[in-house]
Amino acid sequence: MRVTVFGIGYVGLVQAAVLAQVGHTVVCVDVDEKKVDDLKSGIIPIYEPGLTALVQENYEQGRLEFTTDAKRGIEHGELQFIAVGTPPDENGSADLQYVLSVATTIATHMDSYKVIVNKSTVPVGTADKVKATVTAVLAERGLQAKFDVVSNPEFLKEGAAVADCSKPDRIVVGTDNTEVQELFRELYAPFNRNHDKLIFMDVRSSELTKYAANCMLATKISFMNEMANLAERLGADIENVRKGIGSDPRIGYHFIYPGAGYGGSCFPKDVQALIRTSQEIGYQPEILEAVENVNMRQKNKLFENIVKHFGNDLSGKQFAVWGLSFKPNTDDMREASSRVLMQSLWAAGAKVKAYDPEAMNECQRIFGDRDDLMLMGTKEACLKGSDALVICTEWNQFRAPDFDVLSESLNHPVIVDGRNLFAPEIMNRRGFTYYAIGRGDSV
Ligand code: UGA
Repeated sequence: MRVTVFGIGYVGLVQAAVLAQVGHTVVCVDVDEKKVDDLKSGIIPIYEPGLTALVQENYEQGRLEFTTDAKRGIEHGELQFIAVGTPPDENGSADLQYVLSVATTIATHMDSYKVIVNKSTVPVGTADKVKATVTAVLAERGLQAKFDVVSNPEFLKEGAAVADCSKPDRIVVGTDNTEVQELFRELYAPFNRNHDKLIFMDVRSSELTKYAANCMLATKISFMNEMANLAERLGADIENVRKGIGSDPRIGYHFIYPGAGYGGSCFPKDVQALIRTSQEIGYQPEILEAVENVNMRQKNKLFENIVKHFGNDLSGKQFAVWGLSFKPNTDDMREASSRVLMQSLWAAGAKVKAYDPEAMNECQRIFGDRDDLMLMGTKEACLKGSDALVICTEWNQFRAPDFDVLSESLNHPVIVDGRNLFAPEIMNRRGFTYYAIGRGDSV
């Protein structure tokens, strides 16, 4: 099938490459000329395992095209995917200007039937807004061209995006039009082999499904972080509690890892957006507000543990920070706990020596050159002269460090761990003061 994808970000690029891989011909349109030129020369704008090879292969074989020419894209695809960003505006609502601007562009150039597909995470009611926008532009042009607007949210995870998109758990499609349903059956047939993964529903339910999924997952995390805080105060170990409750299949082991708070481009933004949507319709979303508050508090946890050990005045102190990205296998630092930690350390007068396997350039881009941030080439190089090690992200290469090197290099054998990578009793035996999450303070 012929597909066009507007917006070559995370969701758009991965979806386009995966659709091309199964044989569809996909034109990707973006307003960013540099991004388009880079992609044509094999430079991928994001770090995502498996994506570079996938994009290159499909580009070389002619199933994937990159262009800034919207008209070309609109002529090409019967299906027009909108996968542009919906960043939060100053109130936390999703800003729809990019989505509606693509809708306007499509309506300006279309002259035959099109299916316009919202792939971006958009508030309930956006499909209606897209429909109204397209209808208005077509009316201005004096055209009667037919179109449908469909919601088809994306559930991929950063760091596992290609795998998630190639082997989806479910494919949610919001449309009441049975002919459009058939088109989607054909589009996704290659991904629908073992059992039927397509779930058709009305547009609004599909839009809400995306938010409900992310908010449920964020709720699990905040709930566990709250339990971790209780465990610390009650002398329990959250890791035992986690295993104890995860073994109940109704709860499950996934997404119940306590930590230094959730980050990324999705959970914080989507929880806030659903809070705003609720407030706009006069409903107070008490659980969502608590999920958000607990998460904001949790992001201060690493700094609180440092203050607990070293006191409020950290001037002249230096901290080794391992992990800057919001989670492993990505260079994305949006809403990362490491940022909250480093800002607090700097405000208290401390310096940071940091290392991340992928996010060093991103960190440099965000914070630029500053005297109190040293980006180091290896994780070991951060340790020398540092008063403690702080772990923000659970990259695999941090899971089994050489503890002798750690105790020799650090000024004090203190580890503040935001991801519970080590067993407290072993750390104590090795002579470390180890602050984890929800496991009691080590002395
Ligand atoms: C999330 C969802 O998991 C995807 O299903 C969804 O499609 C995506 O948002 C989206 O809306 O686009 P992502 O933001 O890539 O994916 O990252 P996650 O793997 O979900 O992690 C989010 C945050 O939660 C990370 O900071 C992670 O460290 C934290 N987390 C996750 C925990 O603190 N504990 C856990 O048990 C799991």
